[in-house]
Amino acid sequence: MIISEHCSLLGHNTFGIAARARCLVEYDSAEELQAFIRQRNEQMDHTPLLHIGGGSNLLFTKDFEGTILHSRIKGIELLSDADRKVEVRVGAAVVWDDFVDYAVRHGWYGLENLSLIPGEVGASAVQNIGAYGAEAKDVISLVETIDLQTGTPRQFTNYECLYAYRHSIFKTRLRGRYAVTHVRFCLSRDFEPNLEYGGLRLALSKNGIEPNQLDAALLRATIIGIREGKLPDPKVLGNAGSFFTNPIVLRNEYNRIAREFPEVPHYEVDALHVKVPAGWLIEQCGWKGKALGRAGVYEKQALVLVNLGGATGEEIAQLCRTIQTSVRERFQIDIQPEVNFI
Ligand code: EPU
Repeated sequence: MIISEHCSLLGHNTFGIAARARCLVEYDSAEELQAFIRQRNEQMDHTPLLHIGGGSNLLFTKDFEGTILHSRIKGIELLSDADRKVEVRVGAAVVWDDFVDYAVRHGWYGLENLSLIPGEVGASAVQNIGAYGAEAKDVISLVETIDLQTGTPRQFTNYECLYAYRHSIFKTRLRGRYAVTHVRFCLSRDFEPNLEYGGLRLALSKNGIEPNQLDAALLRATIIGIREGKLPDPKVLGNAGSFFTNPIVLRNEYNRIAREFPEVPHYEVDALHVKVPAGWLIEQCGWKGKALGRAGVYEKQALVLVNLGGATGEEIAQLCRTIQTSVRERFQIDIQPEVNFI
């Protein structure tokens, strides 16, 4: 276990915000985390506790006057391999894309479309990360956690996680209550490409890849190419990926927009609802490539807010609020941040 007092969080958030924490505890096993909670309870320590992953979905708007927990639990363990299915148990601190790479190399399929998503495996189960027609919930079988109040282990089945678009029980009713230590995934030995996302089919044909030539490594490389073309590298330009979720609106609201903009991109949700890309709404409001101080809107994808260098979390938050107001005034639609404000 590594305990650091009064430390900088610069290396712990991809926005590159120079906030500080009173204490950072990085533990190496579920048992170490349990020992930490036991001690905290014995000392009747009621200071705030925050569990983080790779920091790729966080915005620190001020210093954190409490303890930040971070897992260092690594390891990818094959639990079963039968009937063309594998079940794998992965430590929460494994870098998500290292896991995708490992799986593709081992012939375990189902993660290819989620290539290059920043962050760690533990957070994938909290956020239900998703991209290019796939979501983590499609492959998660079980989430192993520790109760941060009592230190008791608890497992959640996929069903119990109440997964939905960018949502899980860990973001709503049980927010901040459980730390994910391991995630189990059910993957396939048979490669069945998910080509639902139009941009993916386009990229494959642009690269001259015929459907019969496609394998998992090629699909992964294509996804990486698409992401690199659209999304900024946090090592170069601080960001947290999509800053907002795509709003799910009532069909009559969508119809109202479509009357004015017949080409508005959208995804069908159900008979009553339609999802409209927040990036499109923000671009229509004229924000793409614009900035407020040191906080900017990425020039290639308006859904991504960027730290143009030395921005504070509050500056990014100010840009977020200004964009929300613009979108509300222009389209009467509320867009909500996907990023967690701390
Ligand atoms: N669009 C614009 N202007 C923009 C951005 C997008 O007009 O500035 C339009 C695009 O032309 C397209 C549509 O909006 O017609 C959708 O854009 P895109 O395919 O880039 O995806 P998105 O809806 O903006 C979502 C995810 C991304 C994921 C992509 C691909 C959310 C919040 N974001 O973005 O996830 O990579 O789809 O599946 O659902 C992330 O979570 O960090 C992330 C990057």
